[in-house]
Amino acid sequence: MAVIRLRDSYDQVPDFSVTEMEQGGSAPLRIETAGFSDLRAAIDIEHDRSRKVYVDTARGITQQDIDDLGWGEGRINEYERRYLENPNARMFVAREGDRIVGYAAVMLKNDGAYYVDKLYTAESGKGWGTHLLSTAERFLHEVFGASKAYVVVTENNQEALDFYLGRDYGYVCDIRPGTDPEHYGLAAKLAFPKKLLVKSLV
Ligand SMILES: CC(C)(COP(=O)(O)OP(=O)(O)OC[C@H]1O[C@@H](n2cnc3c(N)ncnc32)[C@H](O)[C@@H]1OP(=O)(O)O)[C@@H](O)C(=O)NCCC(=O)NCCS
Repeated sequence: MAVIRLRDSYDQVPDFSVTEMEQGGSAPLRIETAGFSDLRAAIDIEHDRSRKVYVDTARGITQQDIDDLGWGEGRINEYERRYLENPNARMFVAREGDRIVGYAAVMLKNDGAYYVDKLYTAESGKGWGTHLLSTAERFLHEVFGASKAYVVVTENNQEALDFYLGRDYGYVCDIRPGTDPEHYGLAAKLAFPKKLLVKSLV
């Protein structure tokens, strides 16, 4: 397996990615291992999507609340640590031509399970999410040896629930906000109830 360097300070990682898919019309979609220079575009997609998915007037959650979560340099540094420098994680970007159109991040969490921790695409329904997810799952299975992939979805995110349930994920349990370590530090109104889903990779 070829080896690439993401950034001088990182360990060498296997160049698992670079899969190309033909898609109707435009440039082929390339799924590649993410590097530091991809983080800004990936985080911008997540920010933009989050403003749409997590704004909830019934709960009093505004776009400003989402913006206040912080999408600048601090988050770039956090994702560099969490996904690029962490040997138990990997991040992939989907590129159409020169444009990053989505990203996926997988990681082994402290509970000992492998997660699709993040999956965001710039636009819905173009097949980008499907390609990113299947690359992430293949990586978890072939490189990390995972037999299952877990994902946590906020319970009001029907689009994402439909997406995963339509791709062989099954419901495991609800996660109440108070029990999810990812919620620590978030304002209470942003601590959404979530659902844990799982897919067998074998
Ligand atoms: C959930 C998400 C990753 C799916 O990615 P995507 O790029 O839309 O995925 P695809 O295009 O491969 O598939 C989307 C499905 O919606 C359908 N679809 C078609 N047009 C659509 C549209 N305009 N809007 C939404 N879905 C559409 C697709 O046909 C496909 O249906 P299928 O499940 O029956 O095959 C994406 O919507 C997203 O980024 N959502 C916001 C962030 C999020 O919730 N992430 C998950 C939690 S980590």
